[in-house]
Amino acid sequence: MTRDGTVLLGVTGSIAAYKAVELASRLVQGGAKLDVVMTDSATRFVTPLTFQSITHRPVITDMFATPEEYDIEHIALAERAEVVVVAPATANIMAKLAAGIADDMLCCTILATRAPVLLAPAMNVHMWENAITQENLARLRARGFKIVEPGYGSLACGVEGKGRLADLEDILTALRQILDRRSDLAGRSVVVTAGGTQEPIDPVRLICNRSSGKMGYALAEAARERGARVTLITAPTALPAPIGVEVVRIQTALQMREAVLKAVPDADILVMAAAVADYRPATAAKSKLKKEEYPLMQLELIRNPDILSEVKGNLIKVGFAAESENMVQNATIKLKNKGLHLIVANDITEPGSGFGVDTDRVVLVDSRGKVKELPLLPKSEVAHKILDEVAVLLTTSAGASGGRTHQQ
Ligand code: PMT
Repeated sequence: MTRDGTVLLGVTGSIAAYKAVELASRLVQGGAKLDVVMTDSATRFVTPLTFQSITHRPVITDMFATPEEYDIEHIALAERAEVVVVAPATANIMAKLAAGIADDMLCCTILATRAPVLLAPAMNVHMWENAITQENLARLRARGFKIVEPGYGSLACGVEGKGRLADLEDILTALRQILDRRSDLAGRSVVVTAGGTQEPIDPVRLICNRSSGKMGYALAEAARERGARVTLITAPTALPAPIGVEVVRIQTALQMREAVLKAVPDADILVMAAAVADYRPATAAKSKLKKEEYPLMQLELIRNPDILSEVKGNLIKVGFAAESENMVQNATIKLKNKGLHLIVANDITEPGSGFGVDTDRVVLVDSRGKVKELPLLPKSEVAHKILDEVAVLLTTSAGASGGRTHQQ
């Protein structure tokens, strides 16, 4: 299953824990080195010995067990894992992970790992539908956790509904997809821009837009997960800096331009998810403008340079197009005008898509005219779909020649 790494299987306390035994067996048969971590509640449903017999490795259940029992601790487990899968994942573990709680071996390990984490929830339908569980799910998705949604059916509690652990085939397919993506950008240098630039009017006021930076940050994290060296050039956002990514903070379009032009000579890929202000005030007042002196305020605006168009060279250039109509047509015009390999058109008028939200519905258009419509997906998944296309482009003549760039 893995190339050379280890799969870490987390098992939590649900009746579906018995299905994790079959999952462990399939993973081992597929060639995975498998570490199993069980929560205390999981051991009430299945014994550690069952997993130990399958994996021929110690099964970790106790954070405070003595080293004689096993020679690993949560950091070693976290670092060794190429991917973590929690199946079944209870509402409890989802809540703890969403809150960053680290009170057992499984939570500690997941908090400490930089490997992708796949959750396969299983629970009572009402627990699944509860707004708290759904909020936790959204939070986890926004933080890059992958989810294999539960299926419908009759549940152990006697009711019918959504909550059954997903089919093992679906869990294995999701794992395979994660592993296939794992290092396809290894050795590549990726520059990502994020957020909305801010153009000062005076020391207090500015012109800005609705970009939260979520899409750009998701791209930076996804590229890092796939092994790339990532530079994130970000306008001000409320988001925490992604781990393992070089972050360059800027405010204005001119500063973003300078940072991008400085970063791209070493880059193989540039993805501009930022919403760059098209205009800036011709002059920014040095002191606060007094409203009493301006019953009518007139601002003179000048065009900002188009950053993407200025970047030349042998790198893959990906742009975004925030559109409210004729998505593909308008995006194709931008693709051509800006000399891009790929453009990501998003319909910013659709609920749940575009600015500020955790999901996006996009259409990918490449320079050969290929159009790919994607469903509404978490931005972390949209980011991976974009990078799937970029990985293909890198292997074609357009991007295969190494990606070292120059600007005019
Ligand atoms: O940040 P989020 O809240 O997650 O929202 C994400 C998003 C909606 C901002 C993002 O998905 C998006 O669509 N970003 C591009 C928005 C935009 O500025 O579109 P545009 O059509 O104006 O620009 C087209 C492309 O040219 C973009 O890649 C942009 O970064 C780039 N550009 C634009 C202007 C400029 N002066 N220089 C540029 O390089």
